[in-house]
Amino acid sequence: MVENKPQKLWLYDQTIAGEGLSQIVQDLLKDVPSIGQPNIFPLEWHGDAHGKLAKLYETAKERAWNPAQAIDWKKLDPKDFTREQRLGVMYWYSVLANFDGSGPPVFAKAMIKSYETHEPNELRNAFFSIARDEVNHEEVCYRTVSRLWSQTPTEWDPQNDLEALALRNIRWLYYNGGRYWKGYSKALEEKYPMSVLFSSFMMGEVAATTLFHNMSKAAKHPVFAQGLKKVGQDEARHMAICLAALEHEYMKLTEEDKQMITKQLRAGFVFLSMILYEPPDEFWKLPPEFLEVHRKLEQLAREAGLGVATLSEKKQVWQEAMLKVKTVVNSYGVEFPAMPEVGITGKEVVNISMEDIIPVF
Ligand SMILES: [Fe+2]
Ligand SMILES: [Fe+2]
Repeated sequence: MVENKPQKLWLYDQTIAGEGLSQIVQDLLKDVPSIGQPNIFPLEWHGDAHGKLAKLYETAKERAWNPAQAIDWKKLDPKDFTREQRLGVMYWYSVLANFDGSGPPVFAKAMIKSYETHEPNELRNAFFSIARDEVNHEEVCYRTVSRLWSQTPTEWDPQNDLEALALRNIRWLYYNGGRYWKGYSKALEEKYPMSVLFSSFMMGEVAATTLFHNMSKAAKHPVFAQGLKKVGQDEARHMAICLAALEHEYMKLTEEDKQMITKQLRAGFVFLSMILYEPPDEFWKLPPEFLEVHRKLEQLAREAGLGVATLSEKKQVWQEAMLKVKTVVNSYGVEFPAMPEVGITGKEVVNISMEDIIPVF
C-alpha cells in the first residue's frame, strides 16, 4: 500500500522508453488488496455472449409483457360467479401463489448468489429475467385473488364453515411455504453447487410448464385462459434456460453431485406435488381435514371455468412431466428417484426434510 508520500511516477516527471510496464508500476499493480469472497465484486462479464443462454435472455427481453394490459381484467366480473365459485378460484390462486408467487424473491436470491459466485454473465442475466417474469406471475395471482375476493388471502372474515376451512387451508399452506423459504435460503447460502441447484430449478420449471399448458387449454373462462397461457409461455422459456444451463453444468458432475441430484429430484417431486397432484406425507405438515377441503375447493374452481385438472388427469400429466425429467437426467448418468405415487420406479429416496427442498416454479 502506498503510504503518505507517493512514489514518483512517469506521469509526473519520467518519460517512458519503449513498451511494457515500468518496475514501479508493476509493484503498484500488486498492492491492490484482494476482495474477500463470496462477494459480488470484482465485477466482470465473462461467459459465452453468443450461446444458448445469451439468446434466451434476448428472447426474454423481446417477449416482455404487461399483465395489467395483456389480460382483459374487466371481463373478470365477480358478478359472473357464485360466491362459492369465487371462493374456489381465489383458493386455487392462493395455492398457486405458494409456488409461483414466491418466484420473485426466490429467483432474486438465486441471482444474487450467481453474482457472488461469479457465474458467467449470461447465467446471471437469465436469473434476472426469470425473476422479472415471476413478478408478472405474482401479479396474475394478486389481481385474480383481489378481484374475486380479497387482497389478503390469509386475512378475511369467513361467513360459513366452508369459507373458514378454506381460510385455514391457505394459512396451513403458507406456513409450509414459510418452512420452504427457510430451507431454500439456507441451501442457497451453503451446500449446493450450481449443477444441483439447476436440477431442482429445472424440475420446477417442467412442472410449471406442464401445469399452465394443460390448464390454459382446459380453462373455460377467457380471462383465466389468457393469464394461464401468458404465464405458461414464460415457464417454457424458464425450462429452456434450465436445460441450457444444465448442458454446461452437467459436464463437470462428480459422483457426489449425482447422488445429491437424485435426492433433490425426489425433494422436488414431494414439494411440487401439492400443486401438480396431491401432497405426499413427506415434508408437508397439513391437518387431516386439509385434503377433503382442498378437493372440494378445486371442484368449485373447476366449475368456475379455471381448467383445474381432475385427480386422474393430474396423475397422468404429472407422470408424463416426471418422465421427461427422467430422460434428461438419465442421459447425464444421474439416477432418477422412485416416484411410486405416479407409478415411476427408480432409486428409493427416503427422509426428505425441510433443508432438502430447493425447487422453484
Ligand atoms: Fe412462474
Ligand atoms: Fe418459472
